[in-house]
Amino acid sequence: MTALLEARGVVKRFGGLTAVGGVDISVAAGEMVGLVGPNGSGKTTLFDCLSRVQPVDAGLIRFGGVDITGLRAHDVARLGMSRTFQIIRVYRDLSVAENMHLSIQWGALGVPELFARTDAATRCRADELLDLLLLGRLRHERAGNLSGGQRRLLEIGMSLMSEPRLVLLDEATSGVNPTLVADIADRIRAVNSEQQVAFLLVEHNVQFVADLCERVVVLDQGAVLAEGTPGEIMRDPSVIEAYFGDPGEGARDQNRVPSDPGAPDERVGEGSLHRSLAGSGDAADPDAGREEPVS
Ligand SMILES: Nc1ncnc2c1ncn2[C@@H]1O[C@H](COP(=O)(O)OP(=O)(O)OP(=O)(O)O)[C@@H](O)[C@H]1O
Ligand SMILES: [Mg+2]
Repeated sequence: MTALLEARGVVKRFGGLTAVGGVDISVAAGEMVGLVGPNGSGKTTLFDCLSRVQPVDAGLIRFGGVDITGLRAHDVARLGMSRTFQIIRVYRDLSVAENMHLSIQWGALGVPELFARTDAATRCRADELLDLLLLGRLRHERAGNLSGGQRRLLEIGMSLMSEPRLVLLDEATSGVNPTLVADIADRIRAVNSEQQVAFLLVEHNVQFVADLCERVVVLDQGAVLAEGTPGEIMRDPSVIEAYFGDPGEGARDQNRVPSDPGAPDERVGEGSLHRSLAGSGDAADPDAGREEPVS
C-alpha cells in the first residue's frame, strides 16, 4: 500500500522537553488510522508537526509523494491535508454557513481572498457538506448557538471545504455528549466512504477509534509504543502499563481499572480499559451537558 502521508523520525523539542522523539507514522489513501496515548504523550504536537503548524527539529514528512517538511501550513492545505484543533475553532458570531465559507478562503487560498465574495461553487460545496454532516437545517444558525457535538461536526465540515485527501482530527469527541459520539462516528464514516477522505484521528475515546479504524498507533512519552488493530493494542501489556502503570498517575482517574490483558476473547468495547478511556477527554467542557440531537 502506497502511503499518502509518511513521516519518518519526527522530532519536536520545547526547550529541554522532547515532546515528540523520533516518530514514524503513515496513512494510506482512504485509510482511517487512530492515534491514542495518555495525556501529554505528544499527540497534538505530532499533529502540529505533520500539518506544519510547528517546525520540526528533525525528521522527514512526505505527503502525496511531496516532501512537505519545510512547507508552511497553508501550502500543505493546498496539497490536500487539513486538520481540526483540540480546542474548537469556529467563529461564534458568524452563521454555520459563513464559517464554512470562510474556512476555505482562509485555509486553502490565503489572506487576500478572505474578503472576496463567496462564489457559487463554494456555497454549493458548503451546502452539500452541511447536509452530509446533518447540519443543513442549521446553516443560518449562529455558530455560538450550536451544541458541543454540532460544533465538532461544523469543524469537520470546515476542514473538508478544501477537498482534502487527508484530515487530521484532534479529539473530535471531546466535549460531546456520549449519546452523540456514535452520530459523529457515523458521519466520519460517511465522509470517508463517499468522498474517499483519509483520516488520522487523535482520540481519548478508544471505543470511537475502535469503531472507525482498522489500525491504531499508540504514543507514549513522545514515542510510538505500539501499533496494531484496536483489539491488539487493547490487549498489549505495554499499552495498559502506559495508561495505568505508574501508581502516582493512578490518581489521574480513580475509575480507571485495567482490563485483563490475558483475556483471549475480550472484544473491543467490552473491557474496562475501553470504558474507562471512553469520554475521558475534556469532561469539563461547558457544553457537555447541553447536547442536542444533530438531526
Ligand atoms: N508550546 C509548547 N511549549 C512547551 N511545551 C509544550 C508545548 N506544547 C506541548 N508541550 C508539551 O509537550 C508534551 C506533549 O504535549 P501534547 O499537547 O502534544 O500532548 P497530547 O498527547 O496532545 O496530550 P492531551 O491528550 O492532553 O491533549 C507535554 O509535556 C506538553 O506539556
Ligand atoms: Mg492533545
